[in-house]
Amino acid sequence: MNPFQYRDGELFCEEIPVSRIARDFGTPCWIYSKAMLLHQLGQIQQAFAAVNPVICFSVKANSNLGILKVMRDAGSSFDVVSGGELYRVKKAGADTAKVVFAGVGKTDAEIQLALENQILMFDVESEPELDAIAAVAEKMGVIAPVALRLNPDIDAKTHAKTTTGKKGNKFGMDIERVFELADKVLKTPRLKLVGIHMHLGSPILTTEPYELAGQKAIEVTRDLRARGHEIGWVNLGGGFGISYRGSEGLPASEYAKVIVPAVQEMGVQLALEPGRFITGNAGILVSEVVYTKREGGKLFVIQDAAMNDLMRPAMYDAFHKIWPVKAAAEPANYEGKIEGCEACDVVGPVCESGDYFAKGRYLPPVQRGDLISIFSAGAYGTSMSSNYNSRPRAVELLVDQGHVQVVRRRETYDDLIAAEMDVE
Ligand code: LLP
Repeated sequence: MNPFQYRDGELFCEEIPVSRIARDFGTPCWIYSKAMLLHQLGQIQQAFAAVNPVICFSVKANSNLGILKVMRDAGSSFDVVSGGELYRVKKAGADTAKVVFAGVGKTDAEIQLALENQILMFDVESEPELDAIAAVAEKMGVIAPVALRLNPDIDAKTHAKTTTGKKGNKFGMDIERVFELADKVLKTPRLKLVGIHMHLGSPILTTEPYELAGQKAIEVTRDLRARGHEIGWVNLGGGFGISYRGSEGLPASEYAKVIVPAVQEMGVQLALEPGRFITGNAGILVSEVVYTKREGGKLFVIQDAAMNDLMRPAMYDAFHKIWPVKAAAEPANYEGKIEGCEACDVVGPVCESGDYFAKGRYLPPVQRGDLISIFSAGAYGTSMSSNYNSRPRAVELLVDQGHVQVVRRRETYDDLIAAEMDVE
């Protein structure tokens, strides 16, 4: 499914011309398709139905309350990594009994908040963290459910900044430590071992790493059970890839093919933490060309969106398709030279050379006032955005067929300084 299609000479989101949305709500603006969000979540729900998993939408991919509510209503639970994310999912009406909490630096206050909300499990990343959870649980007189996060040393072949399951990453623990800590949990009355957790990296566009992770999980579960532990849950994290360039994203059923048999063999409950797969291709960032300029033998297309809005190109050299909103169709292939187009650097107004969305990208002639769409921006777009250069965050809009709803208003200049105090 692709909710962003060109017809009648322009880009539509579901049933609405993107140009009309930009006119009504201004630019830059984020546009999400509700149908696509539901389609992607539905794909995972169907593909894994045989093992009835708890799907925990990874809030860091897109933390907008409106999106979280759509997820909750469609039967998703949540993966959180901070007190702030837990606060958000509660506001979205989540059943916290199905929420999982990951991250290497949980504070005592965050642990307490999670225990008060009786979450499903902590994904524990180190021994000191395990001790901290036990201490907080002791103080509160409760029992904390923990899953030990294994670093399976699997190369998911992702970007160096987004690989997490390789030896030497800060995440998880090696197998010996997992065994040690499992034994420690048995001796700690305030802790209950419920399972194991792994997250390999993101985005992963092949199924092999999940197949290896499934095998690893089978071994580890068998060994832990042999040591007297009850392992009810295996959480295989997130990381399913999407189509940034063409149609390279795999259907959820491909991942399920290698994961489901392992889960059935282990006889465990499966948890998954997909983020990007659900929201990534469901959102675009629309900007307006402010100026074009030729300098140093190059054409620069300067638009009103910038790295503070979408940081991925600056941070990871990430590829996002970019094309004018008014056009007959998308090019069949975005890589390389495109007929009738000129290579240009698509940049924002922020005072950093790293503030670009693409370099040497072929675009048809554009001029001041033209609208441009940056595709596949629904994951790690707004959730990583900032106010750098004192730029208010852009408006976020949810499209449901022919209806547009503001799910986050555009920030004002007053918002920029709202938390700041006068010097005495
Ligand atoms: N679970 C854990 C423990 C994670 O660390 C992550 C992502 C996920 C689940 C969700 O992964 P997903 O299904 O969305 O791939 N900012 C980067 C991505 C960072 C991913 C961090 N962890 C980007 O823009 O590509």
